[in-house]
Amino acid sequence: MPKIVIKNLDNKIISGNEAPESILNILQDNFVDWMHACGGKGRCTTCKAIILEGEENLGPLTTHEKRFADMNALKPNERLTCQCIVEKGEIVIKVPETSKLPHMKYSD
Ligand code: FES
Repeated sequence: MPKIVIKNLDNKIISGNEAPESILNILQDNFVDWMHACGGKGRCTTCKAIILEGEENLGPLTTHEKRFADMNALKPNERLTCQCIVEKGEIVIKVPETSKLPHMKYSD
């Protein structure tokens, strides 16, 4: 069962299901508010996360992510949570400054 540690939400630890699913699905299943302006369609970049550890546990870049990476709107250590699949193991992520929600309290 994949695990996600959210570094700047006080190292909150959440778990996914057995089947591979997107980071955003796991966040939503665990009631973690995360910006996703286009509704998870891969058309914006507001849902991005900085990947601090466990990149090897993620699926490959999707077409939408490649497009944003080519436009320099997605850095090499960033993924779109609505697109990026957690295949196994544990990942450590961080909410980027640009995607912080005003009602949330971030620890960093
Ligand atoms: S919610 Fe818009 S790209 Fe993920």
